[in-house]
Amino acid sequence: MPFYSDELIEEIRSGNDIVDVISEYVKLTKRGSSYLGLCPFHNEKTPSFAVSGSKQLYHCFGCGAGGNVVTFLMEYENYSFLEALEALAGRIGITLPKQEMSGQARAEADWRTRILEINKAAARYFYAQLRMEQGKRAMDYLKGRQLSRETMQKFGLGYANKYSDDLYRYLRQQGYGDEILKEAGLVTLDERRGGYDKFWNRVIFPIMDVNHRVIGFGGRVMGEGEPKYLNSPETRVFDKSRNLYGLHLAKSSRKPQILLCEGYMDVIALHQAGFDNAVASLGTAFTPGHANLLKRYVREVYLTFDSDGAGIRAALRAIPILKEAGLTARVIDMKPYKDPDEFIKALGTEAYQQRIDEAQNSFLFEVSVLEQQFDLHDPEGKTSFFNEIAKKLLEFEEELERNNYIEAVASKYQVGFENLRKLVGRMAAQGMTPRPALKSGVQEKKKKENGMDKSQKLLLTWLIEDPGLFEVIRPFIEPKDFVGEPYEKTAKLLFAQYEEGAVNPAKIVSMFPDEEQQREVASLFHTRIGEIETKQEREKALKETIVRMKQNSINYRSTHLKQEGDDGAERLLEDKRKLQEIQKLHISIN
Ligand code: CTP
Ligand code: MN
Repeated sequence: MPFYSDELIEEIRSGNDIVDVISEYVKLTKRGSSYLGLCPFHNEKTPSFAVSGSKQLYHCFGCGAGGNVVTFLMEYENYSFLEALEALAGRIGITLPKQEMSGQARAEADWRTRILEINKAAARYFYAQLRMEQGKRAMDYLKGRQLSRETMQKFGLGYANKYSDDLYRYLRQQGYGDEILKEAGLVTLDERRGGYDKFWNRVIFPIMDVNHRVIGFGGRVMGEGEPKYLNSPETRVFDKSRNLYGLHLAKSSRKPQILLCEGYMDVIALHQAGFDNAVASLGTAFTPGHANLLKRYVREVYLTFDSDGAGIRAALRAIPILKEAGLTARVIDMKPYKDPDEFIKALGTEAYQQRIDEAQNSFLFEVSVLEQQFDLHDPEGKTSFFNEIAKKLLEFEEELERNNYIEAVASKYQVGFENLRKLVGRMAAQGMTPRPALKSGVQEKKKKENGMDKSQKLLLTWLIEDPGLFEVIRPFIEPKDFVGEPYEKTAKLLFAQYEEGAVNPAKIVSMFPDEEQQREVASLFHTRIGEIETKQEREKALKETIVRMKQNSINYRSTHLKQEGDDGAERLLEDKRKLQEIQKLHISIN
C-alpha cells in the first residue's frame, strides 16, 4: 500500500468534515448528537446509518458498514485509498505533493489507471465490432438466444473478431506498449508470433465493478466448442473473489434480495425478464469476499444455481459462506430446467417469480440433499438419516429457533416432534457436533471468539465516548490486555492519543493499511451497549468487562508464555493479583 505521511493523511481527513461530505451523498437528519439517514450500502426503509460529527465516523447498525470519511469514499465510489485521498484533498484545495508518494506507489496507481483505460478501449472496440458487418454471426447468435438490442446495450456486449491480433494492433495504435497490454490480460506475447489476442471469434461479456468500470472480460464461443467460456485472468484491477458479474446494476435494484446464479447468460436473461437483482460469480467458486460484498446491499440471497449435481454442490458450499457473513440463504428449484436462462425461456417470468416465492430455506435444502444419501424405506437407513438430522439440528444454538426447525423437519418427514426433539437432546448430551461437511468450521471458531471480542469492543467504544474512563481503568488495563488484532493495535493507538491529550478515533481508522481492517476498526467504536441506563448498571457492566478482559489477557499470555520474555511469568503473577483486586473493587464513574 502506497503511503503519504500519517500527518498528511490526517490533514486531509480532518480537513473534510464527515457530515458535510456524506451529506453530498445521503440525506441526513440530525438526531441527538449524531445524524441519521438511509444506508447507501444496503437496501433499507428505516434509517440505521449514523454519522457522528464528534467522532468523525459513520456506522450502519443494519449492515455493519462503517469507517471514516476516507473509507466512506472508498466504499461509495469504489475508490482505492489513494483515489479517495486525492478526491478529499481536492475538495479542500490541497494539491498532493507527488514526491510524497514513493515512485513505486505512483507507478502502481498509474498502472491501475492505465489498465482500466485499456479495458475501456477494448470494451468499446468489441462493442463496435458486434454492430458491424463482420459481427453479424455474433449478433445472430445473441439474437438466437433471445436477447434484445436493449439488453445487449445494457450489458455492453461485444464481439472479438476472427483475426487473432486485431485488438492487439488496435491498442498498439492507441499508444499502449506490450508490457501493459500483457498485464491487462488481453494479449499474449510470443517470441515467434509476436502479440496476439486472448479473445478471438467470441461473443464478449465485459465485466464491470460496482462503479461501472470495466475490469475484465468473459468470452463465449458461438455454438459448440471448447472452452465454452474464456475469462480474463486476474489483474491489478480484476480480483475475481471480490467482484460479481451484474452487481453494478443489481446494487440499484429496489428488491430486498439478491439472486445469485452461475453464469453470465443467467444474469442477463434474468435482468431482461425484469429480475434486476441477479448477479453471478465469475467462473470461480463463491467466496467470503463475495458474501461481504453482497452484505452491503441485502440481507437475503437466493441461490439459483444449476439443477445438476455440480450446481447442488456449489449451493452446499455457498450456504455456510453466506450464513457466516450474516446473510440468509434460500434455494430456488428450477427443475426440470437446468438454469434460470433455460427456465425463463421455457416457462416465462411469472413461473420463475413463483419459484422465487417458493424458494426453500437453506437448512431444509441441506436436509433434502442429505435425504438422498439414505434409503428411507429401510428402517436402518431411516434411523441413520434421523440421527444425521438430529446432529445437524445442533447447529441452531437458540432453543426457540432449533425447535422451529425440529418442527419443520418433523412435519416434513412425518415423525413426532417430541421424538425428534429428544433425539436432538441425546445428541447434544453425547457432545455431538454437526457434520463438518455441512457446516462451516470457520463459523464455530468465530462464535467462540465472539464473547471475548465483544468485551474488547465494548471497552473501546466506551473509551472514545467518555475519555474520562481512561483514568478509571488505567490502573487495571493496559493496551497489552487487548488480545488479537485489530484490538491490540487499536488500543495502543487510542491510549497513546489519550496520553497526548486528544482522542481521535477517525485518525486511527486510517492508520490501518487494508480496507477490510479499516471497516473492522471503525466498527469497534460503535459497539451497541444495549440496555445500560443507570449509573449503577454502567458501573457493573464496566467492572464485568474489565474482569473478563483481564482474565482473558491472563489466559492468553499464560498459554503464550514464550513470547512474553524473561519476566513474563512474574508479570503474569502481578496481573493475577490485579485481577483479584479488581474483583473486590467498587468501580465508580461520574
Ligand atoms: N464457465 C467458465 N469457463 C467454462 C465454463 C463455464 O468460466 N469453460 C463459467 C462462466 O462464468 C459461465 C458459468 O461458469 O457463465 C456457468 O457455466 P455453464 O453452466 O456451463 O454455462 P451457462 O451459463 O449455462 O452458459 P450458456 O447458457 O451460454 O451455455
Ligand atoms: Mn445456460
